[in-house]
Amino acid sequence: MAEDFGGLVDSEQGLVSRRIFIEPEIYEAEQRQIFARCWLFLCHDSQLPLPGDFFSTWMGEDPVLVVRDSGGTVHAFLNVCRHRGNRLCRADHGNAASFTCAYHGWTYTNDGRLSGVPYLKEAYHNELDRNQWGLVPVAQLDQYKGLWFATFDAQAPPLRDYLGEMAWYLDTFVDRRDGGVEVVATHKWIMPCNWKFPAENFGGDAYHVPWSHLSAVTTGFSSGVTTKPATTGAMVSPGNGHVLICVGPDDVGDPPIAEVIAYEQAIRPEVSARLGPRARRINPLVGTVFPNFSLLRATSRTFRVWHPRGPGKTEVWSYVFIDKAAPPEIKEAIRLAGVRGFSPSGSFEQDDMDNWQECTQTCRGVASRRMPLNMQMGLGRDRFDAELGAWASAYRISESNHRQFYRRWAELMAAGGWRELAAAPAREQQYA
Ligand code: FES
Ligand SMILES: [Fe+2]
Repeated sequence: MAEDFGGLVDSEQGLVSRRIFIEPEIYEAEQRQIFARCWLFLCHDSQLPLPGDFFSTWMGEDPVLVVRDSGGTVHAFLNVCRHRGNRLCRADHGNAASFTCAYHGWTYTNDGRLSGVPYLKEAYHNELDRNQWGLVPVAQLDQYKGLWFATFDAQAPPLRDYLGEMAWYLDTFVDRRDGGVEVVATHKWIMPCNWKFPAENFGGDAYHVPWSHLSAVTTGFSSGVTTKPATTGAMVSPGNGHVLICVGPDDVGDPPIAEVIAYEQAIRPEVSARLGPRARRINPLVGTVFPNFSLLRATSRTFRVWHPRGPGKTEVWSYVFIDKAAPPEIKEAIRLAGVRGFSPSGSFEQDDMDNWQECTQTCRGVASRRMPLNMQMGLGRDRFDAELGAWASAYRISESNHRQFYRRWAELMAAGGWRELAAAPAREQQYA
């Protein structure tokens, strides 16, 4: 019988086996149980504004082509030629009426139909039914406030249910002003670490900031909000493995740039009215939509996907974003803050990458791998907060979100499908 990998996480005791960060069989199971099941982030609507615009990305290890067809409808297909399986579109993004495979020249229109087959008459004797050999679409595709997501699992709940209460928390990043946000810079790079280390870090590791990032904070790269004793807030988990680091409503996480601070103060009444009463309780700074999509609104503004590339490798696709309605000088200030703070050369990013890479690489040692990881901070102290629609930690620094994230990971790794997951008791009851 196959091993139950879900047993490698003990969320009640806050213990996680290090095998899940390095062993190839567990990585393969993750591809099936998590990446081929969950809703995964594709791209932002502003990245394909016009008919014919396309964007190449990945869902787990599967290449995916997101394309707005000539009629304006958005599709997401496996970016794989139906003939011999060549990767069809090699460009990162662009505009095209059709896509022609580099190997033998099969051509697909931007709505996925197979339109051209060289030597169809002579070599195939007109016997190939082109209607049967179009591009393969994802099982479900949907967007929330301009964020396009897809899943390979037809049984997965609708996107809005999958996000649940996390939807409001996403609003605090992408729906603060009329028109939402737009992407102003893109960075892509590879890190020698397991994808879960950055995903858990962005979702709940306020603990490392006053220590790992001390030099960047001291030299004035950030407001240092999470390093100040008076900061309030909590680790917040709206369920389904989604997790966020939140500070209090009056704690400022914006980059210490005069014009950005002035801009934020000027739009505050508008943002507050838009987000409603909960925004007067809590200010989300950074979070992870389970499994591998993270958003950050401290020091800079970035959302990113942690693409898995084997157990010990992660490809980061990171986008600096800003309110579409912001004036050009604010967009430029945020773009530069993104490059300086959170990019391959960013001061914060470099601190983080060094830690994630060593946390992963030491798992290769047989003896080191036997040592469970400790995620016990604040164990038993988190409570469901109805006003937040989420679990919240008792103190603003806690590992409650780590336990929620890995608990969900374990549930998915153990479950036979979405029906089994839906049958599990509601989280509130489990913790009561
Ligand atoms: S693999 Fe694409 S045309 Fe042959
Ligand atoms: Fe960090």
